[in-house]
Amino acid sequence: AGHPLRTGDTARSTAASPLIRALRGQQPSRRPVWFMRQAGRSLPEYKKVREGVGMLESCLMPELVREITLQPVRRHDVDAAIFFSDIVVPLKLAGVDVEIQPGVGPVLGAPVRTARDAAALPDLEDSALDVIREAVAATVAELGDRPLIGFAGAPFTLAAYMVEGRPSRDHFGPRRMMHGDPQAWAALAGWAARVSGQFLRAQLEAGASAAQLFDSWAGSLSADDYLEHVQAHSAAALAHVGDMAGPGVPGGAPLLHFGTGTGDFLHHMRDAGASAVGVDHRLTLAEADRRLRANPGADGRGAVPLQGNVDPALLAAPWPVLEAHVRGVVASGAAAPGHVVNLAHGVPPETDPDVLTRVVELVHSIPATPGGR
Ligand code: CP3
Repeated sequence: AGHPLRTGDTARSTAASPLIRALRGQQPSRRPVWFMRQAGRSLPEYKKVREGVGMLESCLMPELVREITLQPVRRHDVDAAIFFSDIVVPLKLAGVDVEIQPGVGPVLGAPVRTARDAAALPDLEDSALDVIREAVAATVAELGDRPLIGFAGAPFTLAAYMVEGRPSRDHFGPRRMMHGDPQAWAALAGWAARVSGQFLRAQLEAGASAAQLFDSWAGSLSADDYLEHVQAHSAAALAHVGDMAGPGVPGGAPLLHFGTGTGDFLHHMRDAGASAVGVDHRLTLAEADRRLRANPGADGRGAVPLQGNVDPALLAAPWPVLEAHVRGVVASGAAAPGHVVNLAHGVPPETDPDVLTRVVELVHSIPATPGGR
């Protein structure tokens, strides 16, 4: 269903942006950089506008979403905005009893433990996503030629919250389910893929130029479990937008696929239908690139553009230490057909925002030379 909330004008210009060019393996005018969780508690202006407003409540207020999404772009001059929302927003919009507890994370009223629980999950009505489209459209109207990245949670990471009912470290619940009750797992992961796919699609329809699928907790899986029980569901989520030529970007919106601790199966994440892969701090970008080249997919793709992987722990290090680290990340990323500088995971809330601004300045000051990127 098309929702003509925006003309193609802005869309056409994001194709020349450093982010989109790097994600397509083209030479960018400058090396693109943005930060996962760039909108959030590291910014005093964020804390101010969120005062007295619950997290999920704020995600359903388009004017507030626009403001929060734009805050880090204004402050840091990052090369992309990431839509301010949360991976559990589509659950909420479907009518699932979920909240985000401050300092904890997503908590469900009724965890999904059986095939019956999974079968009883409500459909996400397309019209419920209008609030998302409205917020995206308001945001891109102000971004001009700077791209907005839409996102969604990957089925495993969503299911990890849904089975456990709350954040956990080992994710025994979903891992047990995929082996012990594969039908329940398929029903739950299939449902999660649908709502995440719908959520992605709504954002791209309303003007996002790229999308990122967050599989933050996939690192608790073996490569074999990922391939057998997870990859197809992530592929299904991405397939909701894989055919989208616009309005964000003619020729298709680049799709980023991110996980932490997934160094052993980056190629499986690529093969879920991603144009680019996110890498955490556990391996260098050069090593990630080497592994991808060594394991081409059925479609023949080996190396793809990479995103990462400045260690968030080093944001609090003395500047010379952080600067050397960022320069090392940039040098390592030159091996890949494209590089988007980002953190290895989200911005820690206690981060000094001036350090992030300085990292952006540093990345932009390193010439994006042909070949050397
Ligand atoms: O700036 C951005 O990156 C865009 C906004 C964004 C949020 N959540 C806002 C948010 C994005 C992309 C997410 C994705 C998300 N949410 C993920 C995947 C990315 C990752 O970090 O691994 C996950 C696992 C979640 C689930 C979730 N939501 C957690 C673990 C938490 C933290 C709970 C806490 O208080 O520590 C949230 C809440 C949340 N989502 C906050 C923000 C800014 C913090 C809550 C607040 O500011 O009140």
